[in-house]
Amino acid sequence: MSMSHSHKEVVKKIEKLREEIRCHEKKYYVDNDPQISDYDFDLLVKELQKLEKQHPELITPESPTQRVGEQPLEGFVSVEHSTPMLSLDNCYSVEELEEFKKRIEKIIPAKKNEYVAELKIDGLGISIIYQDGKYSQAVTRGDGFRGDDVTTSVKTIKSLPLTINNSQEVEVRGEIYLPFKSFRKINQERAEKGEPLFANPRNAAAGSIRMLDPKEVASRELDIFLYSIFIEKKEKESQWENLKTLTVLGFKTNPNSRFCNSLEKVISYYDEWLEQRDNFDYDVDGIVIKVNSTEKQKLLGSTAKFPRWAISYKFPARQTTTKIKDIIIQVGRTGALTPVAILDPVKLSGITISRSTLHNEDEIKRKDIKIGDYVLIERSGDVIPKIVSVMKERRTGKELKFVFPSSCPVCHSSAFKPEGEAIARCTNSSCPAKLKESLLHYSSRRAMNIDGLGKAIVDQLLSKRLVEKIPDLYSLKYEDLMQLERMGPKSSKNILDEIEKSKQRDVSHLIYALGIRYVGERTAQAMTSHLKSLDVLTNASLEELIQIEDVGSKVAESIVFFFKQPENIELIKKLREAGLNFSSKESEAQGERPLEGQTFILTGALSSYSREEAKKIIKSLGGTITSSVSSKTNYVIAGKSPGLKLQQARELNIPTLDEKAFLELINRLTD
Ligand code: IVH
Repeated sequence: MSMSHSHKEVVKKIEKLREEIRCHEKKYYVDNDPQISDYDFDLLVKELQKLEKQHPELITPESPTQRVGEQPLEGFVSVEHSTPMLSLDNCYSVEELEEFKKRIEKIIPAKKNEYVAELKIDGLGISIIYQDGKYSQAVTRGDGFRGDDVTTSVKTIKSLPLTINNSQEVEVRGEIYLPFKSFRKINQERAEKGEPLFANPRNAAAGSIRMLDPKEVASRELDIFLYSIFIEKKEKESQWENLKTLTVLGFKTNPNSRFCNSLEKVISYYDEWLEQRDNFDYDVDGIVIKVNSTEKQKLLGSTAKFPRWAISYKFPARQTTTKIKDIIIQVGRTGALTPVAILDPVKLSGITISRSTLHNEDEIKRKDIKIGDYVLIERSGDVIPKIVSVMKERRTGKELKFVFPSSCPVCHSSAFKPEGEAIARCTNSSCPAKLKESLLHYSSRRAMNIDGLGKAIVDQLLSKRLVEKIPDLYSLKYEDLMQLERMGPKSSKNILDEIEKSKQRDVSHLIYALGIRYVGERTAQAMTSHLKSLDVLTNASLEELIQIEDVGSKVAESIVFFFKQPENIELIKKLREAGLNFSSKESEAQGERPLEGQTFILTGALSSYSREEAKKIIKSLGGTITSSVSSKTNYVIAGKSPGLKLQQARELNIPTLDEKAFLELINRLTD
């Protein structure tokens, strides 16, 4: 083989790998429809990295390995937008929405109105430019005329393609956001370090995009939805076509946008999503209504600030004020002492709020919170309410400063806060509060799923000393349960059955149930699929653990530490003696999988099952669930008020199952 020949081969090999990786990235991050395991994906990336290391001259900025730049930036450069990025006029009622329609019809009389209704994502507006099919520049909205060049930060967003199949000048605009899950993770880490918390995902996203080190930005796991596209500065003939074009080019668009041929349809769109606003993994603060036709949009034009062809119809604010009656200390599973504000109960968009976490001592100081203060509280999409600020003007002078205790309020052992950390912990390894939380976690649905073992029962089991360690659950007898308050023959038997049943649960749940620090459900699952059994995990070394996807050094250290503690070695021994399942069922013989190879989409709400349950059933029968419709979809299961997916499925002639048909199918298969 001649030199040049082998060089050509390498070029080809690298290009093929890149194409494959891009394709899987799109499937995973944009379509939510992974085609290979994370592990296999990693192998592809590692192979590409190896080849690129051997041939650095072949590295291009658009290679999937180049999302995270090596060098931190010095600062941000201000850039002018080619066309201003306008903001949107807001309205808050159907009447105002009708006025918007009237204003439009005054300029363009019309019999028929076509709109596109979209969710209004509470994130950061961004403009992104592609030249020659390659990602080239990203600029924040800024004041609408000029923004900051954040090209290296935006490049880390994995759902954003770095190459597109169009070599003209393409500008796309959309919203960068931080999923709640990442938001909570960031704030939890900040709370542990004693750093100021971000007030909401939007602020956290804004802070993240402006970090100078791309590695830091990448760790924040930002995401993006696109809603505008200009090819050679021109839009398609309608907004609906714009969205389609974005999707075809591989951009992530919000799946809940809807074509509406009347204002009534827009209003029901609003009502539907208002009801569902808590079900998103991102902050939605209303809907955006856009006149569909681009030509009409041009005729309508804009005022200095807003387009006349679009408006946002906001969801009601979820803020209110209340009084802090007291501040108490909660003791967590790890002994962490967390201050919690006890509030005068208030209703906030449907739920009554009577407490709010204050995270740690520093957070109380930073917000200057005192007992008796009136505070502004907020629920931002996220169900967890938080204190935004203290209303200092309402202070009477009678408010009390909160003194953080130096001992555990439950067992009175001393609390210890390591140098440089923000969280104080109870030092007593057999503190009853820790045991109580551990038991509740152990029996929780996603852990061992011991139904019926709630707070009231656990409290009694502990105070009667019927349970002193987790494995004691497995020696509980009928008479033990019968002597508890509010327990009859039936409920006692049920709990015993539930406890017995938990012995057979897959080991990934057991690993999660142990409550090892930093080991969430996902990590527990990743470890199970690699190591197959609890015994292997117990003896795994730091090096072995770090090899596993999703397991970083922090997690690995925590696992090794956990299994070194004598009390945990004892715990595992006792659980084994109780007859718990220590190995992965997945690795054992598979049951019948009649839906093997079949791909399903779920849209709308089912009345007999929750979404999670329906997914589980399909998976247990060997089927796959994906979230975006494609030619590979075999069935669409459509519940009540299905979304855009049903429409897409019909366009592709994909068979639809209503709830009844779906139930019939699974009954037939599981009989
Ligand atoms: S359209 C001229 N669509 O909301 C059209 N904006 O309050 C302006 N936003 O600056 C943008 N979701 O950053 C549009 N589906 C959506 C949106 C959206 C969120 C943001 C955008 C805009 C701000 C206006």
